[in-house]
Amino acid sequence: MLDYVRYYVHRFFYKIFHFKKEPNKTIAVAHRGASGYAPENTFAAFDLAIDMKADYLELDVRMTKDGLLAVIHDETIDRTTNGSGLVKNFTYEELKQFDAGAWFHRKFSGEKIPLLCDVLKKYRGKINFLIEVKEPKKQFGIVERLAKELIEKGDQQLNVVVQSFDTAFLQEFHSVLPSISLGVLIGYRHGAITEEHLQQYAAFATYINPNKALVTPKLVYMIHQSGMKIMPYTARDIHDIQHLMAMNVDGIITDYPDYLTSLPKSLSYSKRSRIR
Ligand code: G3P
Ligand code: CA
Repeated sequence: MLDYVRYYVHRFFYKIFHFKKEPNKTIAVAHRGASGYAPENTFAAFDLAIDMKADYLELDVRMTKDGLLAVIHDETIDRTTNGSGLVKNFTYEELKQFDAGAWFHRKFSGEKIPLLCDVLKKYRGKINFLIEVKEPKKQFGIVERLAKELIEKGDQQLNVVVQSFDTAFLQEFHSVLPSISLGVLIGYRHGAITEEHLQQYAAFATYINPNKALVTPKLVYMIHQSGMKIMPYTARDIHDIQHLMAMNVDGIITDYPDYLTSLPKSLSYSKRSRIR
Protein backbone atom coordinates (compact mmCIF):
# COMPACT_ATOMS: atom_id res chain seq x y z
CA MET A 1 0.00 0.00 0.00
CA LEU A 2 2.78 2.38 1.02
CA ASP A 3 4.57 1.54 -2.24
CA TYR A 4 1.57 2.67 -4.26
CA VAL A 5 1.19 5.92 -2.31
CA ARG A 6 4.89 6.59 -2.83
CA TYR A 7 4.51 5.74 -6.53
CA TYR A 8 1.60 8.14 -7.09
CA VAL A 9 3.41 10.96 -5.26
CA HIS A 10 6.49 10.26 -7.39
CA ARG A 11 4.41 10.17 -10.59
CA PHE A 12 2.69 13.45 -9.68
CA PHE A 13 6.01 15.28 -9.29
CA TYR A 14 7.55 13.48 -12.28
CA LYS A 15 4.73 14.69 -14.52
CA ILE A 16 5.10 18.28 -13.29
CA PHE A 17 8.86 18.37 -13.82
CA HIS A 18 8.80 16.60 -17.19
CA PHE A 19 5.70 18.23 -18.64
CA LYS A 20 7.42 21.10 -20.47
CA LYS A 21 10.17 18.89 -21.89
CA GLU A 22 8.36 15.95 -23.43
CA PRO A 23 4.85 15.22 -22.24
CA ASN A 24 4.02 11.50 -22.21
CA LYS A 25 7.01 10.57 -24.31
CA THR A 26 7.96 6.96 -23.82
CA ILE A 27 11.07 5.86 -25.70
CA ALA A 28 10.12 3.32 -28.40
CA VAL A 29 12.79 0.63 -28.75
CA ALA A 30 12.37 -1.65 -31.76
CA HIS A 31 13.33 -5.11 -30.48
CA ARG A 32 15.61 -6.76 -33.06
CA GLY A 33 14.15 -4.07 -35.37
CA ALA A 34 10.41 -4.09 -36.00
CA SER A 35 10.61 -7.86 -35.55
CA GLY A 36 6.85 -8.35 -35.27
CA TYR A 37 6.63 -7.50 -38.98
CA ALA A 38 9.95 -8.48 -40.54
CA PRO A 39 12.73 -10.99 -39.87
CA GLU A 40 14.59 -10.03 -36.69
CA ASN A 41 18.01 -8.39 -36.83
CA THR A 42 17.89 -7.72 -40.59
CA PHE A 43 17.97 -4.52 -42.61
CA ALA A 44 14.29 -5.13 -43.46
CA ALA A 45 13.35 -5.04 -39.76
CA PHE A 46 15.58 -2.01 -39.12
CA ASP A 47 14.21 -0.06 -42.13
CA LEU A 48 10.71 -0.70 -40.89
CA ALA A 49 11.59 0.48 -37.39
CA ILE A 50 12.84 3.74 -38.92
CA ASP A 51 9.61 4.07 -40.96
CA MET A 52 7.66 3.56 -37.74
CA LYS A 53 9.67 6.35 -36.09
CA ALA A 54 11.13 4.21 -33.35
CA ASP A 55 13.66 5.97 -31.13
CA TYR A 56 16.07 3.04 -30.81
CA LEU A 57 17.04 -0.06 -32.74
CA GLU A 58 17.73 -2.95 -30.38
CA LEU A 59 20.03 -5.57 -31.90
CA ASP A 60 22.13 -8.52 -30.75
CA VAL A 61 25.78 -9.09 -31.55
CA ARG A 62 28.02 -12.15 -31.65
CA MET A 63 31.54 -12.62 -32.92
CA THR A 64 32.30 -14.54 -36.11
CA LYS A 65 35.23 -16.92 -36.63
CA ASP A 66 37.21 -14.04 -38.16
CA GLY A 67 36.49 -11.70 -35.24
CA LEU A 68 33.79 -9.52 -36.82
CA LEU A 69 30.60 -8.50 -35.01
CA ALA A 70 27.57 -10.06 -36.67
CA VAL A 71 24.03 -9.05 -35.82
CA ILE A 72 22.25 -12.23 -34.74
CA HIS A 73 20.43 -13.31 -31.59
CA ASP A 74 21.06 -17.05 -31.27
CA GLU A 75 24.33 -18.89 -30.79
CA THR A 76 23.52 -20.88 -33.93
CA ILE A 77 22.17 -19.79 -37.30
CA ASP A 78 19.58 -22.60 -37.38
CA ARG A 79 16.43 -20.72 -36.34
CA THR A 80 16.86 -17.53 -38.38
CA THR A 81 18.61 -18.66 -41.56
CA ASN A 82 18.52 -21.53 -44.05
CA GLY A 83 21.85 -22.79 -42.67
CA SER A 84 22.97 -24.69 -39.62
CA GLY A 85 25.85 -24.41 -37.15
CA LEU A 86 27.43 -22.10 -34.60
CA VAL A 87 27.96 -18.44 -35.53
CA LYS A 88 31.51 -18.60 -34.16
CA ASN A 89 32.41 -21.39 -36.62
CA PHE A 90 31.72 -19.24 -39.71
CA THR A 91 33.69 -16.34 -41.18
CA TYR A 92 31.50 -13.41 -42.17
CA GLU A 93 32.06 -14.22 -45.86
CA GLU A 94 30.51 -17.63 -45.14
CA LEU A 95 27.71 -16.28 -42.94
CA LYS A 96 26.48 -13.82 -45.52
CA GLN A 97 25.77 -16.65 -47.98
CA PHE A 98 22.82 -17.73 -45.84
CA ASP A 99 19.30 -16.41 -46.24
CA ALA A 100 18.14 -14.64 -43.07
CA GLY A 101 14.69 -13.60 -44.27
CA ALA A 102 12.83 -16.47 -45.94
CA TRP A 103 12.14 -18.29 -42.63
CA PHE A 104 9.91 -15.34 -41.67
CA HIS A 105 8.16 -14.89 -45.03
CA ARG A 106 9.21 -15.58 -48.61
CA LYS A 107 8.92 -11.87 -49.45
CA PHE A 108 11.99 -11.32 -47.26
CA SER A 109 14.14 -13.91 -48.98
CA GLY A 110 17.57 -12.52 -49.80
CA GLU A 111 18.00 -10.75 -46.44
CA LYS A 112 21.45 -11.34 -44.98
CA ILE A 113 22.89 -11.42 -41.47
CA PRO A 114 24.23 -7.85 -41.17
CA LEU A 115 27.49 -6.69 -39.64
CA LEU A 116 27.25 -4.22 -36.77
CA CYS A 117 29.56 -1.77 -38.59
CA ASP A 118 27.19 -1.71 -41.60
CA VAL A 119 24.14 -1.13 -39.40
CA LEU A 120 25.87 1.77 -37.63
CA LYS A 121 26.99 3.20 -40.95
CA LYS A 122 23.54 2.98 -42.55
CA TYR A 123 21.46 4.36 -39.69
CA ARG A 124 23.72 6.71 -37.72
CA GLY A 125 22.07 10.08 -37.27
CA LYS A 126 18.66 8.56 -38.05
CA ILE A 127 18.06 6.57 -34.87
CA ASN A 128 19.72 5.54 -31.60
CA PHE A 129 21.18 2.08 -31.05
CA LEU A 130 20.70 -0.35 -28.18
CA ILE A 131 23.37 -3.00 -28.73
CA GLU A 132 23.06 -6.22 -26.74
CA VAL A 133 26.23 -8.26 -26.42
CA LYS A 134 25.24 -11.92 -26.23
CA GLU A 135 27.09 -14.26 -23.88
CA PRO A 136 30.29 -12.16 -23.69
CA LYS A 137 32.09 -14.81 -21.63
CA LYS A 138 31.98 -17.16 -24.63
CA GLN A 139 33.42 -14.52 -26.98
CA PHE A 140 37.06 -13.93 -26.37
CA GLY A 141 38.12 -10.34 -27.10
CA ILE A 142 34.62 -8.94 -27.59
CA VAL A 143 35.20 -6.00 -25.20
CA GLU A 144 38.11 -4.70 -27.26
CA ARG A 145 36.45 -5.54 -30.57
CA LEU A 146 33.25 -3.64 -29.76
CA ALA A 147 35.13 -0.70 -28.24
CA LYS A 148 37.29 -0.45 -31.39
CA GLU A 149 34.21 -0.57 -33.59
CA LEU A 150 32.49 2.23 -31.66
CA ILE A 151 35.62 4.39 -31.50
CA GLU A 152 36.09 4.01 -35.27
CA LYS A 153 32.51 5.15 -35.78
CA GLY A 154 33.05 8.12 -33.42
CA ASP A 155 31.81 6.94 -30.04
CA GLN A 156 31.20 10.47 -28.74
CA GLN A 157 28.78 11.25 -31.57
CA LEU A 158 27.05 7.88 -31.82
CA ASN A 159 23.86 7.57 -29.85
CA VAL A 160 24.62 4.10 -28.55
CA VAL A 161 23.71 2.21 -25.41
CA VAL A 162 25.42 -1.14 -24.85
CA GLN A 163 23.48 -3.64 -22.77
CA SER A 164 24.04 -7.13 -21.43
CA PHE A 165 22.81 -9.61 -18.86
CA ASP A 166 26.46 -9.97 -17.82
CA THR A 167 27.35 -7.21 -15.34
CA ALA A 168 31.04 -8.22 -15.23
CA PHE A 169 31.22 -7.58 -18.98
CA LEU A 170 29.50 -4.20 -18.55
CA GLN A 171 31.93 -3.14 -15.82
CA GLU A 172 34.89 -4.15 -17.97
CA PHE A 173 33.44 -2.34 -20.99
CA HIS A 174 32.88 0.76 -18.87
CA SER A 175 36.53 0.79 -17.82
CA VAL A 176 37.63 0.52 -21.48
CA LEU A 177 35.15 2.97 -23.04
CA PRO A 178 33.41 5.13 -20.40
CA SER A 179 31.89 7.44 -23.06
CA ILE A 180 29.27 4.79 -23.92
CA SER A 181 26.09 4.50 -21.82
CA LEU A 182 25.32 1.04 -20.49
CA GLY A 183 22.20 -0.93 -19.65
CA VAL A 184 21.86 -3.85 -17.25
CA LEU A 185 19.47 -6.50 -18.54
CA ILE A 186 17.68 -8.41 -15.82
CA GLY A 187 15.98 -11.70 -16.58
CA TYR A 188 12.85 -12.92 -14.86
CA ARG A 189 14.78 -15.60 -12.98
CA HIS A 190 16.76 -12.92 -11.12
CA GLY A 191 13.74 -12.22 -8.91
CA ALA A 192 13.76 -9.16 -6.70
CA ILE A 193 16.02 -6.23 -7.53
CA THR A 194 17.18 -4.63 -4.29
CA GLU A 195 18.35 -1.10 -3.55
CA GLU A 196 21.82 -2.55 -2.97
CA HIS A 197 21.84 -4.01 -6.50
CA LEU A 198 20.77 -0.67 -7.94
CA GLN A 199 23.46 1.24 -6.05
CA GLN A 200 26.02 -1.17 -7.43
CA TYR A 201 24.69 -0.87 -11.02
CA ALA A 202 24.47 2.94 -10.84
CA ALA A 203 28.28 3.08 -10.62
CA PHE A 204 28.53 2.12 -14.30
CA ALA A 205 25.04 1.92 -15.86
CA THR A 206 22.45 4.43 -17.04
CA TYR A 207 19.62 1.99 -17.78
CA ILE A 208 18.09 -0.96 -16.00
CA ASN A 209 16.21 -3.06 -18.53
CA PRO A 210 14.29 -5.84 -16.80
CA ASN A 211 11.91 -8.49 -18.01
CA LYS A 212 8.51 -6.76 -18.10
CA ALA A 213 7.13 -9.21 -15.51
CA LEU A 214 9.51 -7.76 -12.90
CA VAL A 215 8.24 -4.19 -13.28
CA THR A 216 6.30 -2.69 -10.39
CA PRO A 217 5.66 0.93 -9.42
CA LYS A 218 8.11 0.42 -6.57
CA LEU A 219 10.86 -0.81 -8.91
CA VAL A 220 10.37 2.15 -11.27
CA TYR A 221 10.53 4.49 -8.29
CA MET A 222 13.69 2.85 -6.95
CA ILE A 223 15.42 3.00 -10.35
CA HIS A 224 14.57 6.69 -10.78
CA GLN A 225 15.73 7.39 -7.22
CA SER A 226 19.05 5.72 -8.12
CA GLY A 227 19.44 8.20 -11.00
CA MET A 228 18.88 5.60 -13.75
CA LYS A 229 16.19 4.92 -16.35
CA ILE A 230 14.15 1.81 -17.02
CA MET A 231 13.25 0.25 -20.39
CA PRO A 232 11.61 -3.16 -19.86
CA TYR A 233 11.47 -5.94 -22.48
CA THR A 234 9.62 -7.35 -24.43
CA ALA A 235 6.15 -5.87 -24.90
CA ARG A 236 4.16 -7.67 -27.57
CA ASP A 237 0.66 -6.29 -27.13
CA ILE A 238 -1.01 -3.00 -26.40
CA HIS A 239 -2.02 -4.07 -22.90
CA ASP A 240 1.61 -4.65 -21.96
CA ILE A 241 2.46 -1.24 -23.33
CA GLN A 242 -0.33 0.56 -21.50
CA HIS A 243 0.45 -1.27 -18.27
CA LEU A 244 4.14 -0.36 -18.45
CA MET A 245 3.42 3.25 -19.42
CA ALA A 246 1.09 3.61 -16.45
CA MET A 247 4.01 2.65 -14.22
CA ASN A 248 6.07 5.51 -15.66
CA VAL A 249 8.80 3.52 -17.37
CA ASP A 250 11.16 5.60 -19.52
CA GLY A 251 11.11 3.35 -22.57
CA ILE A 252 9.66 0.07 -23.80
CA ILE A 253 11.43 -2.60 -25.82
CA THR A 254 8.85 -3.99 -28.23
CA ASP A 255 8.53 -6.05 -31.42
CA TYR A 256 5.82 -3.56 -32.48
CA PRO A 257 7.25 -0.04 -32.16
CA ASP A 258 4.25 1.35 -34.01
CA TYR A 259 2.13 0.53 -30.97
CA LEU A 260 4.06 3.31 -29.25
CA THR A 261 4.58 5.72 -32.13
CA SER A 262 1.29 5.17 -34.00
CA LEU A 263 1.09 3.24 -37.22
CA PRO A 264 2.05 5.18 -40.38
CA LYS A 265 -0.92 5.49 -42.75
CA SER A 266 1.07 4.05 -45.65
CA LEU A 267 1.34 0.70 -43.92
CA SER A 268 -1.47 -1.76 -43.60
CA TYR A 269 -0.12 -4.73 -41.74
CA SER A 270 -2.42 -7.40 -40.53
CA LYS A 271 -0.86 -7.14 -37.06
CA ARG A 272 -2.71 -3.83 -36.73
CA SER A 273 -5.71 -5.87 -35.70
CA ARG A 274 -3.81 -6.84 -32.58
CA ILE A 275 -4.37 -3.34 -31.21
CA ARG A 276 -7.28 -3.75 -28.90
O1 G3P B 1 16.54 -5.91 -25.15
C1 G3P B 1 16.15 -6.89 -24.27
C2 G3P B 1 15.96 -8.23 -24.88
O2 G3P B 1 16.39 -8.21 -26.21
C3 G3P B 1 16.65 -9.30 -24.14
O3 G3P B 1 16.23 -10.57 -24.52
O4 G3P B 1 16.46 -12.68 -25.73
O5 G3P B 1 15.32 -10.78 -26.81
O6 G3P B 1 17.77 -10.75 -26.52
P1 G3P B 1 16.45 -11.21 -25.96
CA1 CA C 1 18.33 -8.65 -27.37
